[in-house]
Amino acid sequence: MLPKSLPPEFNPSRINWDLKNKSTHERYEEFFQDRRHPEIPNSFLKPHSLWLEIGAGTGHFFESMAKLHPEKNLVAIERDRMRGKRLVRRSEECGLKNFMGIRGNAIAAFMTGIEPETLERIYILYPCPWPKNAHRKHRWHFHPTMPKLVAALEKNGHLILASDQKFYVEEAHYVCSQKYGLEVLKFGEISPHPLNALELFPQGRTKFEQTFLAQKQPCYELIVRKS
Ligand SMILES: C[S@@+](CC[C@H](N)C(=O)[O-])C[C@H]1O[C@@H](n2cnc3c(N)ncnc32)[C@H](O)[C@@H]1O
Repeated sequence: MLPKSLPPEFNPSRINWDLKNKSTHERYEEFFQDRRHPEIPNSFLKPHSLWLEIGAGTGHFFESMAKLHPEKNLVAIERDRMRGKRLVRRSEECGLKNFMGIRGNAIAAFMTGIEPETLERIYILYPCPWPKNAHRKHRWHFHPTMPKLVAALEKNGHLILASDQKFYVEEAHYVCSQKYGLEVLKFGEISPHPLNALELFPQGRTKFEQTFLAQKQPCYELIVRKS
């Protein structure tokens, strides 16, 4: 039997090289200028604070959070056709005025649709880790959307990221703190924190987290604040 390939390793020199190469970012911005993007209705913007979940699956976590936080507006975006449809149906049928599910691409939303300083929290739970070196530009922290994502956070806004891949959270930690100057509030294995709501979901907040926890696989997280 062939040996299993090793997981990617955290490599700061390669990250620094990647961060210097900006040309793809400009091309990306141009590409999205005239494209349609998922719309967040104005009624979800002010006066309530807005929380966004990217890659929300079918939206179970954000529906529960919307019930717990009626004073906030929560929007969940999911790109996958089937999961996105179930997310939209869930938000239409749940009867919550402060929860909305959108089937669409969060990248397009950030490139042209979401204004700077509009989000109080962004949750990205168990994103695809894109483990192949050649695909690393798709990881959220290296993605051309990342500057927009950081800009979209309000002052004192938070990004809450979780992954079963240690290298992913290590890289995100390095990029968020070194390149974007975000303040690190939590970094390492997941454990309850007021911003991650883990204590309310002991079996896992999302489907992926439930699977990892049931298999006793370690999960990692990063919580950062924009100052
Ligand atoms: C590994 S799954 C995790 C789903 C869920 N967060 C969970 O923890 O169970 C990652 C999800 O992110 C979605 N996704 C990836 N890129 C996206 C994008 N640009 N916009 C919206 N959703 C995206 C995928 O379709 C997929 O459903």
